[in-house]
Amino acid sequence: MPEIFIDGQAIQAEPDQTVLQAALANGIFIPYFCWHPHLSVHGNCRICVVEVEAKGGSWLDISCNMPVTEGMHVLTDSEEVRAQRKAILQFVTLNHPVDCGICDKAGECTLQDYHFAYNGSPSISRDAKVHATKFFDLSKRIVLDNERCILCSRCVRFTREISKSHALGIENRADHSLVRPAEDRRFDDDPYSDNVIDICPVGALLSKQFLYKARVWYLEPTPSVCPGCERGCAVQIWHRRPEWRLNALDPRQNAEIARVTPLENPAVNGPWICNKGRDLARIFERARAEQPMLKGKPVELAAAIDAARRLIDEARHAVALVSNWGSNEELAAFKQALAGRFAASFVKRDRQPEPGERIEDDFLIRADKNPNTAGARALFDDAPAALPDGADLVLVWGEGCDFGRLPRGAKTVFLGSYLAPENGHADVFIPVSIQTERRGSYTNFAGTVSPFEPCFAKKPSVADAETLFAALAQRERATA
Ligand code: SF4
Ligand code: SF4
Ligand code: FES
Repeated sequence: MPEIFIDGQAIQAEPDQTVLQAALANGIFIPYFCWHPHLSVHGNCRICVVEVEAKGGSWLDISCNMPVTEGMHVLTDSEEVRAQRKAILQFVTLNHPVDCGICDKAGECTLQDYHFAYNGSPSISRDAKVHATKFFDLSKRIVLDNERCILCSRCVRFTREISKSHALGIENRADHSLVRPAEDRRFDDDPYSDNVIDICPVGALLSKQFLYKARVWYLEPTPSVCPGCERGCAVQIWHRRPEWRLNALDPRQNAEIARVTPLENPAVNGPWICNKGRDLARIFERARAEQPMLKGKPVELAAAIDAARRLIDEARHAVALVSNWGSNEELAAFKQALAGRFAASFVKRDRQPEPGERIEDDFLIRADKNPNTAGARALFDDAPAALPDGADLVLVWGEGCDFGRLPRGAKTVFLGSYLAPENGHADVFIPVSIQTERRGSYTNFAGTVSPFEPCFAKKPSVADAETLFAALAQRERATA
């Protein structure tokens, strides 16, 4: 292990580390724009400059491309380094517009932070700024502001090294340089494209979905798991902070998913997610079912639970189809409280791939579009193509059931979360909460268990599945 000295502090570095990596790993911060821990080194922004001290004299060099060597001495905050950083920031902001007041990246922008920390001076340039395209449609999902781009090339390297779509490049030279889609590649076809929004150190790449929707300081993230496929990527669901839920806003804005970003989890998804994971609002914000019903007739939740319990009590051959969107905790609660009351309980696949959706690849996306098939299969068998004849009651939990193929004459208890025609046809319909309203965990295809937290409150007429299963198992009247 090479021993190096950073600002006089002895550090045991890994032999394959750069000075920047060794410093960061030991709690010494050196600023960087173009370097990214999961991309190749390009060394183009120069902000990671340090001073190397040697017998023959010292010199300035970039730390992201400098391998550690035994006994080297490096300064990260000498007078020369500070002057060089300031000059680099003057250069980087030469043509950068002062858009912070309207820029979606404000509050999360590395350039803003570094300008404040290491420069803080107005521009010394006497020349007018060179203008570039302000709203370039990079794809259906992303708009590019070339004036804000600092040409770090992270986005280009992402498409070459991570998503492998090779969809982006930089054309022209000097202050005419522009990030542009490669002529023969469509960035729209890259299912991981939106990761460039996160890794862009400035507000040059912006999500059209999120554009001008909220300042980031009005929002807070809740750790969660993407249910879009059995990979179960760790995500952060961003929503309004309680103190910023304002009466003046459209009430939906106070309780909606503002955006979804990756939550780094080396065991599951690293720092990336696919675009479907960003679009969780399309899944979770569908019209919700909030009204318990008996054959389509609205009733109180307690009455629906009573009726469902009666049907379970009276059934001679009850079958359950459990949800592979149920959490491990809910599935275990079902098994413990109710499975003994059913002749058989099977795992159903709640969701199938949608038209045009990428089915599978060798990066993250998996063919099974459900988050907890592994967790459910650990407790229950897979559902057969057709349920055995003779079932006189079927409990259906979650989506994906073809009610037309259930055994003729069987009564149905349906636990669902979204408006659907089947809700009104079931003998008993009980609305149940969704992932964003409860705490739990999923087990992904590789056996990794990932937890999720609630970010919104469920309506009182909507049952919590774990409590509901306990209530259904009781012989006496109870409510969930
Ligand atoms: S758009 Fe952003 S990530 Fe891409 S080169 Fe410009 S600054 Fe870097
Ligand atoms: S790969 Fe699967 S789990 Fe990960 S973000 Fe995409 S859909 Fe969600
Ligand atoms: S971070 Fe080292 S040159 Fe950009």
